[in-house]
Amino acid sequence: MPSTNFIFGNSMNKQSSRVALVVSSFIVLQSFSMAQAADFHRDIIYQVFTDRFFNGRKDNDNPPQSPGLFDASRKNWKAYWGGDLAGVKEKLPYIKSLGCSAIWISPCIDNINKPDNDAAGNMVAPYHGYHARDFMRVDEHFGDSDMSFKDFDALTKAAHDLDMRVFVDMPFNHTSPYNHAEYGALYDAGQFRSDVENDRNKYFHHLPAVSDFNDPYQLQYGTIFYLGDLDQENQYVDTYLKQAAAKFQSHGADGTRLDAAKHMNWGWQHVLANSLYNRADHLVLGEWWLTGIDDPMYKDAVKFANKGGISLYDFPLANAIRKAFAEGGDLTLVDQVVSQENKDFIDSNELLTFIDNHDMSRFPNIVKDKKVTQLALATLLTSRGIPIIYYGTEQGLYDDTKGGEDPYDRPMMQSFDQSADNYKLIQKLTALRQTNLALSSGKQRTLFCSKDLYVFERRAGADVAVVALSLKPKEALLDAAEVATSLGLVDNEVRQDALAGALSGIALEGAKQLSLPPQSLSIWLTNSNKSSAFIAAIRPPAATAGKAVTVYGKGFGTSGKLSLAGEALTTSSWADDKIVFNAPLLKHGRLVLEVEAANSSKAKSELVVVENKLVLVRFVVSDLKLAAGEQLYISGNTSALGAGSLLPNDMAGPMLVNQDSDEKPYMLAVPMPAGESVELKLAVYNAKGLVRAETKPHNLKMPQLGPSVITMTWQ
Ligand code: NOJ
Repeated sequence: MPSTNFIFGNSMNKQSSRVALVVSSFIVLQSFSMAQAADFHRDIIYQVFTDRFFNGRKDNDNPPQSPGLFDASRKNWKAYWGGDLAGVKEKLPYIKSLGCSAIWISPCIDNINKPDNDAAGNMVAPYHGYHARDFMRVDEHFGDSDMSFKDFDALTKAAHDLDMRVFVDMPFNHTSPYNHAEYGALYDAGQFRSDVENDRNKYFHHLPAVSDFNDPYQLQYGTIFYLGDLDQENQYVDTYLKQAAAKFQSHGADGTRLDAAKHMNWGWQHVLANSLYNRADHLVLGEWWLTGIDDPMYKDAVKFANKGGISLYDFPLANAIRKAFAEGGDLTLVDQVVSQENKDFIDSNELLTFIDNHDMSRFPNIVKDKKVTQLALATLLTSRGIPIIYYGTEQGLYDDTKGGEDPYDRPMMQSFDQSADNYKLIQKLTALRQTNLALSSGKQRTLFCSKDLYVFERRAGADVAVVALSLKPKEALLDAAEVATSLGLVDNEVRQDALAGALSGIALEGAKQLSLPPQSLSIWLTNSNKSSAFIAAIRPPAATAGKAVTVYGKGFGTSGKLSLAGEALTTSSWADDKIVFNAPLLKHGRLVLEVEAANSSKAKSELVVVENKLVLVRFVVSDLKLAAGEQLYISGNTSALGAGSLLPNDMAGPMLVNQDSDEKPYMLAVPMPAGESVELKLAVYNAKGLVRAETKPHNLKMPQLGPSVITMTWQ
């Protein structure tokens, strides 16, 4: 039976979705499953590197249009090895019973057909999927030789039937290497459009490779890894990429990973997210590499995530965990990252957390001690954020060649043993997380942290989880008074370890001193019957004026009051764990949302509301000279311009210097409301604060269709 519930939005319960199925089958018949309702903050993601996962069908191993890229012996680590979408589909029940509710698959869009060579002359194939040629088609190695969506549709349908979500990886930043093979050629559903060598229509940037990875202009406009760098400010490219994203969304993708987000036009990605959110809620996963919270680009990353409602991969946390557990570091670093990010991100629970991925050595490569890997996994699965498990970790998979760096971090999955130790441990942890709101969505607060001891609380209203991790090789003493208070223990109440000793954890008895066993992790829970309002997530996080927004949580009762920026809102539905309302038409920017349940308990959070349809506008300021240390911002009455605020964090900017023009004007690509009249002012800041702002606003009509350019002079 075809499923078409997409057209009814994403906030349906089971019953209404059944009604929708019946009704919708009269409207349009489709053979695939549309994107699903989305309570993403409760997901646990399994990262599948498709080529290395499972060979579901042999007939696509060495397809006719791209022969010779496949290595049946699996000796050439840079050749295709046979994994495909049919294989992922076949193994969904295995992933589901691990307790993962979503998969992120490596790019399955059509990649180049001609082989490359590495420095040693070995054949190199785009088995990873990051060398795109046609974003409108599925690669013949992963699906069919007709490059249709058949196998992709079957995968999303099977996943949705299992109540699982599918997140696709879209490398919209670039095509393929511009210096050989296919010269970065771009196709549209089989039609050749352009390549980097003969770029008559200016689909590509032609700037040098990025040399300063802390220069926002270079990051967005320069090239990386010799890849054809698409210009998302080109009208054709903008439309084409948005249509490709829409196509995958309409074929059932529930989320889109923005590969190399740091290197792609930042404003454009907000326009893209807006176009995805306007069709249905969708998880937008932004891959923005950072070394840590002290990375010079950290502040830009935070602003990018907050303004556009994009979930960033939590690189600072991954790096901190890797250092603390495996590289002789210190758990206080983990604590610092968690605490700082909790302050900076609107919702740190929507950060994507991980301990390894396809671009770094697998965790067991950097720590050979299995117990330490298990403790890291348990920390990941009890911490805030949406956790990601890299395929094979549950089987202890790794290859030690060259320290396990790329490509040796992408071995073929060897076994699907559901009784493997890591598999069973992850199962316990995911089951706890899935059934406990404090563990999946609670706010995280540190109770105690030292070099090798980390005790933290997760709190969701009146529900609490406390996690006590010790990396000490000996017993560690812990004064449990604060833990007992956090859990609300009375007298000598006892809390058993929710993992039942699986990681050498112990019971908590009253408020006495505890002796934590060497290398252990204990979880203690308090599930209260008290009803207290708690907001777990607001989706989509960058809501569109006039469109549905869902508040997920607990303790909302059956009715109450909801307000946004102090003004009461009408709701379209109200249940104990979910409230739905339409974002107001006239209020934009970052706004405080408050829920007051009928029992008077209150909860607050924030969301961003953007204007109905965003288009990309490049503002250019041509005649301005700034003193050293000064930066130019754009303020104004739209969400992207800070909704009237003159604070640098709220306004658009700082503007960049166009290094590609002789005049070197200031420029910035900003998501603006299509067709609307906007008032904006330029403002100059230095390290001490506001230096000057324009006294007279610019009154400008935004274009209906983006992207376009508006030039201004200071007034
Ligand atoms: C980041 C991806 O994760 C990586 O594997 C890829 O090579 C680059 N982006 C370029 O697409």
